Amino acid sequence: MTTEPASRREPLIQITGLRKSYVLGDVTVHALRGVDVEIAGGTFVTVVGASGSGKSTFMNIVGLLDRPSGGQYFLEGEDVSGFDRDRRAVLRNRKIGFVFQNFNLLPRTSALENVELPLLYSGQPLSAAERDRKALGLLQAVGLGERAHHTPNQLSGGQQQRVAIARALVNDPEILLADEPTGNLDSRTSVEIMEILQRLNGDKGITIILITHEHDIAEYGHRVITFRDGRVVSDEPVDTRRDAAAEFAALPALEEEVSA
Ligand SMILES: Nc1ncnc2c1ncn2[C@@H]1O[C@H](COP(=O)(O)OP(=O)(O)OP(=O)(O)O)[C@@H](O)[C@H]1O
Ligand SMILES: [Mg+2]
Repeated sequence: MTTEPASRREPLIQITGLRKSYVLGDVTVHALRGVDVEIAGGTFVTVVGASGSGKSTFMNIVGLLDRPSGGQYFLEGEDVSGFDRDRRAVLRNRKIGFVFQNFNLLPRTSALENVELPLLYSGQPLSAAERDRKALGLLQAVGLGERAHHTPNQLSGGQQQRVAIARALVNDPEILLADEPTGNLDSRTSVEIMEILQRLNGDKGITIILITHEHDIAEYGHRVITFRDGRVVSDEPVDTRRDAAAEFAALPALEEEVSA
């Protein structure tokens, strides 16, 4: 696979001296202690580091779910560090999609409706039929067109994660943030999810920032950022990038797929 894309070199994300502290009674937790990161549009970045090193705190700030205690965050050249909750929400809905370890799908709600939900909040003037069409197209793109009317408890973990990816894409984000998206999946299903993410990055140019505990998952990206104790301790390109599509094609078929 190729390394970082040559096109779109302007920094999409520019972060300097980023700090985040949480005050709990008499104790102050310094979750981020001065982080500098620049990410060009179209890059697939992975983030690794021990538990508690600040990975999710970093992602929540990048994703505009939370605001920093100090430092600067420029998103497409705009200083968003001081944005209040409402301004962050507007920008987040327009630009950012999230995928989490536990999928966070609504139970007793079909895959289709789960995918459509963010459209209702984004204020896009789409009719119900247009929403259905868009959500169905995304479910088809992640290989779940036939499962649109199934509820999460009727789907496997990997299928639920694919619904969550479709949901994260429904507002056409430029940036997809994924916090341990394969953390609850077996290795085969993880390759399937990474194939989808590499395809979204390669074909659509969506910038991806993915947190993982597993170093082999980190090698699907262009670049690995390592956190330790609230700081970036290394930020390196991936020399030999893994290619999930090729790996998946080489996996033996599952029995149920053979007999189906
Ligand atoms: N809302 C919060 N209130 C108080 N402390 C917090 C809060 N969120 C995170 N922390 C603390 O900040 C530090 C960094 O947490 P963070 O969740 O970013 O780590 P992480 O690298 O994502 O860990 P993990 O791999 O376990 O998910 C930890 O010490 C954590 O306890
Ligand atoms: Mg975390």
